[in-house]
Formats: sequence, C-alpha cells, structure tokens
Amino acid sequence: MAIENLDLQFLKSKTVLVTGASSGIGKAIAEKLLDLGNIVIGTSRSNNNLRVISEKFPRNFYPYSLELGNLDEILKLSNYVSKTFGKLDVLINNAGILGQTTTIEDYDIKKWIEVININLNGQVLLSKELLPLLKESKKGSIINISSSVGRAPRENWGAYSVSKAGLEALTDILCQELTKYNIIVNSVNPGGTATKMRKEAYPDEDQTQLPSPNDILPIIIYLSSDEATESGYKFNAREYIGALQNF
Ligand SMILES: NC(=O)c1ccc[n+]([C@@H]2O[C@H](COP(=O)([O-])OP(=O)(O)OC[C@H]3O[C@@H](n4cnc5c(N)ncnc54)[C@H](OP(=O)(O)O)[C@@H]3O)[C@@H](O)[C@H]2O)c1
Repeated sequence: MAIENLDLQFLKSKTVLVTGASSGIGKAIAEKLLDLGNIVIGTSRSNNNLRVISEKFPRNFYPYSLELGNLDEILKLSNYVSKTFGKLDVLINNAGILGQTTTIEDYDIKKWIEVININLNGQVLLSKELLPLLKESKKGSIINISSSVGRAPRENWGAYSVSKAGLEALTDILCQELTKYNIIVNSVNPGGTATKMRKEAYPDEDQTQLPSPNDILPIIIYLSSDEATESGYKFNAREYIGALQNF
C-alpha cells in the first residue's frame, strides 16, 4: 500500500461528490479535498447548512440539497452532475443517520424503514445512477463510509447495524462488477469520531478523548487519489491516522 508515498500536490482537479458535507466527517472530507484544489459537490438536506463551506470555497464547492430518503431527488442529482461536469471521479457515500438504539423487539418499524432508506437504499441508488459518470473518469473510486457494527452486527444497534452490513455487501458486489471499468470500491470504518452522531449514540462520553473528523481523513484522501489501486477492502480509518505527510 502506497499511502506513505502519496504526494498531496497531485490530488487536485478531481470531481468528487460527498454526501452529508454539512457536518462531521463529510464536512472534513469536503474541506480537505477543496483545500487541495478539487471540485466538490457536497450535499445536505438544506443548502443553508452548507453556507459556511460555500462561502469559504466559492470557486470549487457546489452545494446541493439532497434528502437521501427521496429517490426522485437522487435521480435529479445525477442529472445535475451529468449536465454540469459530464463525469465523476470519486463518490463518497458518507451521509447517514443513527436511528434508534434499542432491541429489534422494541424498534419502531417506521423508523427502521427510514434508516434503511437513507443509509442503504439511498446509497445504492446514488451509486447506480452515478455509475455512467464514474465510468467517464480515467480512474473512478467509490468510498462507502461504514461502521464497526456493519462488520460485526451488535445488539441494540438495529437498523443502523443492518444498513451498514448492507453497505459492506454493496461494496463487495460493486468491487467485483466495476473492476473492469477501472473503478475501485472500498469501505471505510471511521471508528469512534467526535461528531454529532457519535454524541447522539454516546451522550455521556467525553468527546475530547476521541479523534476529530480531520484526524481520520488520511485513508479517505488516499482512496480518492490516483495512487490507490486497492478495491474490495474494509479499511479502518484509525489505523491510518498520521499516515500522510504535510497533512
Ligand atoms: N462519528 C462516528 O463515530 C462514526 C462511527 C462510525 C461510522 N460513522 C459514519 O460516518 C458517517 C458520517 O457521520 P458523522 O458522524 O459525521 O455524522 P453527522 O455529523 O451527524 O453528519 C451526518 C451527515 O448526514 C447528513 N444527513 C443526515 N440525514 C440525511 C438525509 N436524510 N438525507 C441526506 N443527508 C442526510 C447530514 O446533513 P444535514 O443534516 O445537513 O442534512 C450530515 O451532513 C455516517 O455514515 C456514520 O454512520 C460515524
């Protein structure tokens, strides 16, 4: 693996779509890629939540309002990317919600369906609709932001755990289907990271003891670059903290 050799000055001018770019991990990914000189289409349910990043990067940030639970909106987004950019180099399926942390027996079924729709069905459709544009890239990359409970499903994590296990399966399937198009597909488990979602899951935890969204970026930045050739891997972001020079 060549992460230590990645020269960040060569990671620029790519067209990247990051879902959930308004906060936490997605925001950190978007800002780093923008800083390096890439074009980022960043989504949130409200453009208002993207105002700060839009003002900071007026030239290369493209805010887009997307409710991942609304399949029509996903179709419109792929039309927009097609018309505006004609290709996509990197798709980062990052947005997600936690849902309830309770037993299956007590899980509210409406909430269950909402979580599966946003965390899994939305990501499936987005990947499917953007595929023709990823194929236009010289080297495409799909990065699915997963979770440890997607790899080892855990009690009381209900729909979130099931949705992330599905995302891991999607990663494996797409990896096999897309190798011939020079598109790599990997999943990244951030590990506990100081964000709003983590606070919702562990309200009493001291977040100053956790890595920040910025700390866990190196593997995601690497997988966005031409240097990365791995596909079908399940990465743990924590293992790569500090792996990039001049970061
Ligand atoms: N933080 C951790 O410890 C941790 C650990 C393992 C995995 N993860 C994964 O990392 C990813 C990012 O999480 P985070 O911790 O950075 O969470 P976060 O700060 O809560 O951010 C979640 C993002 O998803 C967007 N979003 C929420 N609901 C949406 C919907 N219905 N449609 C479209 N976008 C929606 C939010 O945007 P708006 O609210 O502006 O719409 C926001 O930008 C998630 O997939 C999460 O499962 C996080």
